[in-house]
Amino acid sequence: MRVLGIETSCDDTAIALLEAKRELPSPELKLLKNIVSSQVKMHSEYGGVVPGLAKREHQKNLIPVLFEALELNSMKHETGNMKQAQKIKNIEKILERYDDLLEEFKEKVVPIEKPAVDLIAVTHGPGLEPALWVGVNFARALSALWDIPIIGVDHMEGHIAVNLLQCGNSKFKIQNSKLAREIEFPAISLAVSGGHTQLILIKNWMDYEILGETLDDAAGEAFDKVARLIGLGFPGGPEIEKIAKKGDPKAFDFPRPIMNRPDYNFSFSGLKTAVMYKVKEMTEKEIKSRQADIAASFQQAAIDTLVKKSIKAAKAHNIKTFMLAGGVAANTALREQMKEALKKELPEAQFMVPEIKLATDNGAMIAVAGYMRYKAGQKSNWHTLKADSSKLITEE
Ligand code: KG4
Ligand code: ZN
Repeated sequence: MRVLGIETSCDDTAIALLEAKRELPSPELKLLKNIVSSQVKMHSEYGGVVPGLAKREHQKNLIPVLFEALELNSMKHETGNMKQAQKIKNIEKILERYDDLLEEFKEKVVPIEKPAVDLIAVTHGPGLEPALWVGVNFARALSALWDIPIIGVDHMEGHIAVNLLQCGNSKFKIQNSKLAREIEFPAISLAVSGGHTQLILIKNWMDYEILGETLDDAAGEAFDKVARLIGLGFPGGPEIEKIAKKGDPKAFDFPRPIMNRPDYNFSFSGLKTAVMYKVKEMTEKEIKSRQADIAASFQQAAIDTLVKKSIKAAKAHNIKTFMLAGGVAANTALREQMKEALKKELPEAQFMVPEIKLATDNGAMIAVAGYMRYKAGQKSNWHTLKADSSKLITEE
C-alpha cells in the first residue's frame, strides 16, 4: 500500500510518499518521495519558532509540497455531481479557519483525480498547537475528498519508527556487520529533538516505557540556546556541530548535570547556564575568537551525558537494539560516540540511526509510524481526528 505522511508540528512543512509491504516485525518499506519545505529562514529572524508564523507558512506550503510529493501537475477536471457538492461542503467546514488554504484547495486539489494513495498519516501531537492543526485539518480534507483512511501519528514515535527504513538497506552499515532485516527487542531509543529528550524502553513496537526524560531543557533546545549565546544562527544544532569541528572539546570544563545520578533523567539547563556565565566574562571579540572551543566543549558535555545514561540503560535492560532518534540524532559526533560506546559496552547489540536527512522532521517518519499503527488495527477518521499538542508517546 501507499502511505502519504504529513508533518507540520513545528517549522517544517513535510509530506512523504511511502510504499509499504508486509507487516511488522519486518515490513518492506520504500520511500518514494520525501519533500520538506523548511521555514527556518523566516523564524531565524526571531531566534526561534513563532507558532503563528509557522501556521501561516504551513498554509502556504502544504499544497505545493503535496503536489511535489505526488508529482501532480496535470489537472483533470471532474464534472461536479451531487457527491462532489457534499464533499466540498465537508471541506469548507474542515478548512473554515484557513481562508486562503481553502480557496487554493478548491481551485487546485478538488479538480485532480484521486491519487494512488491508500492511507493518510498525519502528526497529531506533540508539537505547536496551531501548526499541528493546519496539518491535521489539511489531512482531514484530503481524506474527505478522496475517501482515503486517515490515521493520527505521534511525532516522537515517528522519529523512532523511521529507523525501520534502515532495515535491509545495504547502504546502511550496522555495527555488527550483519544486515538487519528487522528490529529486535528489547530495544532502547534515545529520542532527542528540539522539544523532547526521552530514553524509551521498547519491549515491542507500540509497547513503550519511558525510562527517563529531561527535567528542564530538551537537548536540541540546549544546542539552540547555546548557539544564540555565542552568536550563531538558528537552529543552533547544525551551527554548533559545524563550528565545533574546529574547536577543542576539552578547552572548557563545562558541567555534566546529573550525569552520575542513578536515574535515567537528563538536565541541560545548568550546562547552558554555565556557558552563559563563561560568555558573560568575555568580550565580544573573545567570544568570537573562542566560538569553536565553546561550541566543541558544550557539545562534548551534552554528548557525554546522553551517551552515559543511554549505555547504562542499555546494559541494565540487556537490549538487542539501540535506536537513536530525533533532530539531534543528525549530529555526527553523537552518532559516532554512541555507536562506539555501544560497541564497547554491549557488542552484541545492534546500533541503528536514521540517515541524517531523516533524523530531523520529515513526512517519511510519519508515514512509517502511520503504516505500523494502521496494520496494528488502530482506527481513526476525518470526522473525529484532532490535534493534541500535549500528547505523549505512552498515552493511548
Ligand atoms: O526533531 P527536530 O527536527 O524537530 C523537533 O521535533 O523539535 O529537531 C530539531 C532540533 C533543533 O533543536 C536542532 O537544533 C537540533 O534538532 N539539531 C541538531 C542537529 N541538527 C538538528 N542538534 C545537534 N546537531 C545537529 N546536527
Ligand atoms: Zn521532531
